[in-house]
Amino acid sequence: MEKYLDSSKSRKQLQAIQNYVKKLFLDDCTGHDFYHMKRVADLSKLIAVKEEADVFISEVGGWLHDLGDEKLFEDPTEAKEDMIMFLYKINFQEQTIARIMEAIKDISFRDQKTPRSLEGKIIQDADRLDAIGAIGIARAFAYGGANKQLIYNHENPKNTSIQHFYDKLLLLKDNLNTNSAKELAEERHSCMKSFLEQFFKEWTI
Ligand code: ADP
Ligand code: NI
Repeated sequence: MEKYLDSSKSRKQLQAIQNYVKKLFLDDCTGHDFYHMKRVADLSKLIAVKEEADVFISEVGGWLHDLGDEKLFEDPTEAKEDMIMFLYKINFQEQTIARIMEAIKDISFRDQKTPRSLEGKIIQDADRLDAIGAIGIARAFAYGGANKQLIYNHENPKNTSIQHFYDKLLLLKDNLNTNSAKELAEERHSCMKSFLEQFFKEWTI
């Protein structure tokens, strides 16, 4: 497996990618802001080191994984084409771009796919870890508010943010690819369970 060369070229490329991502996502209020991308990049890097994967591809893929997402971009194809042009501009080789695109193409939970490459599996895990735990709780309600969804309604829980925990978030711990991510998920999962317990205690005083 190719090792990560923390050379000045790759450091400059990562800096350019951060600036690019910042411009696109800084104002997002749906839980997909710049800091989501940063956390996914950092987690991808951490997991890639543990799993002995290509750390650079994992980190870059983490930064770019939501680019071209259908719910975030009016024209997802254009967003992806712009990203590829940008990567060429900052001196990425065609082969490296192909590996990044391959790694990030199947990571969405909704599509129910598993990426083929180890780096793709790692980025998918990192994205899922950022949807659980304390950050995951905050993101669920941010997403809910931005999409005009109720926090909860015990008479009709369907389409509330609390229901989203049962539909998706509590299932994520058992839908991870790597052992390193599974380990990281335990504490985050317990945090959500305690939160829900307390939530229902306060809901029915
Ligand atoms: P992906 O980016 O893997 O396709 P989503 O877009 O479904 O995943 O989820 C991204 C973030 O938005 C997660 O933090 C998730 O909890 C939140 N989210 C998605 N759908 C809902 C929903 N219906 N209610 C509350 N939060 C949601
Ligand atoms: Ni994401």
